[in-house]
Amino acid sequence: MKTITLEAPAKINLTLDILGRRADGYHDLRMVMQSVSLGDTVTVTESGDGFALLAEGITLPAGKTTLEQRAAESFFRYLDRPVPGLEVRLAKRVPAYAGLGGGSADVAAVLRGLRALYAPELPRRALEEIGLSVGSDVPFCVHGGTCLAEGRGEHLTDLPPLPDCAIVLCKPDFGLPTPELFARVDGAELGARPDTAAMEAALVRGDLPAVAGCLGNVFERVLTEEEGAEIRCIRAALARCGALGAAMSGSGPTVFGLFDDPARAHRAAEALGQKYRQTYLAAPVKKFRELE
Ligand code: C5P
Repeated sequence: MKTITLEAPAKINLTLDILGRRADGYHDLRMVMQSVSLGDTVTVTESGDGFALLAEGITLPAGKTTLEQRAAESFFRYLDRPVPGLEVRLAKRVPAYAGLGGGSADVAAVLRGLRALYAPELPRRALEEIGLSVGSDVPFCVHGGTCLAEGRGEHLTDLPPLPDCAIVLCKPDFGLPTPELFARVDGAELGARPDTAAMEAALVRGDLPAVAGCLGNVFERVLTEEEGAEIRCIRAALARCGALGAAMSGSGPTVFGLFDDPARAHRAAEALGQKYRQTYLAAPVKKFRELE
């Protein structure tokens, strides 16, 4: 039986800058993205007819083609082969609508699994291109590791890995819909931008305090008073617990902090976990070697 189980790591944005709105309605971005060990587990199995998606603990959209199915259809269209019967099973750990790319990570894991089962020679770039047809964050989630991501998020340049550290992720109990946040950015005065070049230089030096010192996300500039207050409150709590730096990830609302001391990170996760149910401890994940 053809089957494979893969980890689907979430991502955080060490930096996120928006350069402008494009004619196609998307925005040109410049971000430093990092895979983290908080992730879902995805099993892809050839079985039966049609496409079945099974997930514990979440309700799947009824009557809608899921992103996982769209990814599988794009994959076999690219190969010019008929789509076999497939079952995809998700064990979810990454919160949804959190700015952590959980959905994109699952789609990317489906694509990596299909490649392993049906087309092991398919280049990484082709898999990323197929991923882009499903979502802007999917190419990075196919790639993994530490990258500068430009364009919609699909132009990826490898950067030196984030130095060893502990990462505390904390999601407050409200959602920030991605399209709405992009709409808020249009015409807004964003002020000082994250220093992407300084972030790249800090990664090249392997200098964790410098990395932590230039975390930044322009979406934090377009939060409402109430949303912003909650994000700042989590940032301040992480700093009090010894984080070297903290920022919101993606279109939020998850805030992450970087720690050089695992024991402090553990205590921070415990302290924040008292107030915020969705608090997690994670580590950086390197580029997926199976695609080399
Ligand atoms: O590509 P994806 O479907 O994940 O994007 C979700 C939404 O986020 C888009 O419909 C668009 O509103 C916004 N977006 C954008 N520019 C990007 C990525 C996403 O405006 N580069």
